[in-house]
Amino acid sequence: MPPAIYTDKHAALGISDIRLDCPVITGTEGEQAIDVAQLRARTGLVALDPAFVNTAAVKSSITFLDGELGILRYRGIPIEELADRSSFVETSYLLVYGDLPNHEQLHRFSTLLTRHSLIHEDMKNFFTGFPPGAHPMAVLASMVVSLGTYYPDSLNVDNRAQMDITIARLISKVRTIAAFAYKKSIGQPFVYPQNHLRYCANFLNMMFSVPAEPYEVDPELEKAMNLLLILHADHEQNCSTSTVRMVGSAKANLFASISAGICALWGPLHGGANQEVIEMLENIRDDGGNVKKYVALAKDKASTFRLMGFGHRVYKNFDPRAKLIKVAADRVLSRLGIKDPLLDIAKELEDAALSDDYFIERKLYPNVDFYSGIIYRAMGFPTNMFTVLFALGRLPGWIAHWREMMLDPTTKIARPRQLYTGPTHRHYVPLEERG
Ligand code: SDX
Repeated sequence: MPPAIYTDKHAALGISDIRLDCPVITGTEGEQAIDVAQLRARTGLVALDPAFVNTAAVKSSITFLDGELGILRYRGIPIEELADRSSFVETSYLLVYGDLPNHEQLHRFSTLLTRHSLIHEDMKNFFTGFPPGAHPMAVLASMVVSLGTYYPDSLNVDNRAQMDITIARLISKVRTIAAFAYKKSIGQPFVYPQNHLRYCANFLNMMFSVPAEPYEVDPELEKAMNLLLILHADHEQNCSTSTVRMVGSAKANLFASISAGICALWGPLHGGANQEVIEMLENIRDDGGNVKKYVALAKDKASTFRLMGFGHRVYKNFDPRAKLIKVAADRVLSRLGIKDPLLDIAKELEDAALSDDYFIERKLYPNVDFYSGIIYRAMGFPTNMFTVLFALGRLPGWIAHWREMMLDPTTKIARPRQLYTGPTHRHYVPLEERG
């Protein structure tokens, strides 16, 4: 990968009698950034950019996306090719280690994942402490950070020899934790991993089989699971990935950093949206399927209603993942012989919105969350597991960014500045003298 290169361009910044020439850096895809690293030292000023809408926090070689053109590539490979030809395990290796694995590398990585799928038996006790209605995202976040208590060697991030096994343990065990959280919530016995099953089939077996009867994983569902996990696997500096980087920049261990990312993903504006989409579609169905009413509500500034699964900070064109998931939704539902009215409502909602100026002007298109829940629902997952499935998919992406940061000798602890707007200097007033 050619390094990011400095062009001969500079951005000149003039502030009163100070003139600051900031280098302009060009990335390998031609994107450009003004390097303001010297801004405060040379001018005493900081840049203010709430929600980092205009700010690149890092140089990264993992994922490239172009929101205008609807392009998404993992380590340079288009998402469409990976969705069509790769497996989630292979894509995880690509994201974390930078290239597609050869036979030996893939075999070694797959074997590691197979051999590390069990969680410590004592961790089963954690589940008894959660109430039956516990949201599985809360369970997932707490169980993942707790993995660090069983692997003390993983707590020292400078121990490079431990990094690969820690990564494999986490990618493998996260399935077991997610499936156990689901089984606990429905009062069924835990189903242990089976080493003869491939990654996604093993997860589906842990989720949906019961000890009382045989269970065969439907190859179509295994294929759909691979596709969905691949499509969710990374998305450059989104909210949860930036959270993982922020926490990891303090040299927090992988389990702690990923647990923080899980908590960020849970937010309804981020990964929690896939659960919100289904709840929104169910409300529209229960309200007589009046799509036009909800499109109007989404446009009404007096209403807090948003079209969940629509819009994106970066994509101002179709989210390429949404396109692939929409096709998969049709395929999986027809394979399963399911006619889900929510899919019809979703398509009607999409058509109505995409022909409405409000959405066209704001470039609001369906995002990754708009159709994913339809497939998850058809596969038998309960709505409150949808964001957990997003987390399973995003895990290799989070790990790739954490590892990229840990291996970068220039990494510093992240510590943004602020612009203070509070009270100026004043003194303590004794209680009896206060108004
Ligand atoms: C994910 O960053 C990533 O990469 C995230 C993600 C990933 O893979 O990691 O892609 C996954 O999080 C996808 C997004 C899932 N969230 C939702 O579907 C929730 C609904 N969408 C929105 O809340 C919103 O679109 C965001 C949060 C996704 C983006 O918000 P922005 O970029 O801050 O945009 P904004 O809120 O400033 O909206 C701009 C305008 C506003 O109107 P005006 O003030 O210009 O009049 O668009 C409107 C908003 O009111 N708008 C919507 C809308 N989304 C934006 N109006 C109605 N319905 C919506 N969904």
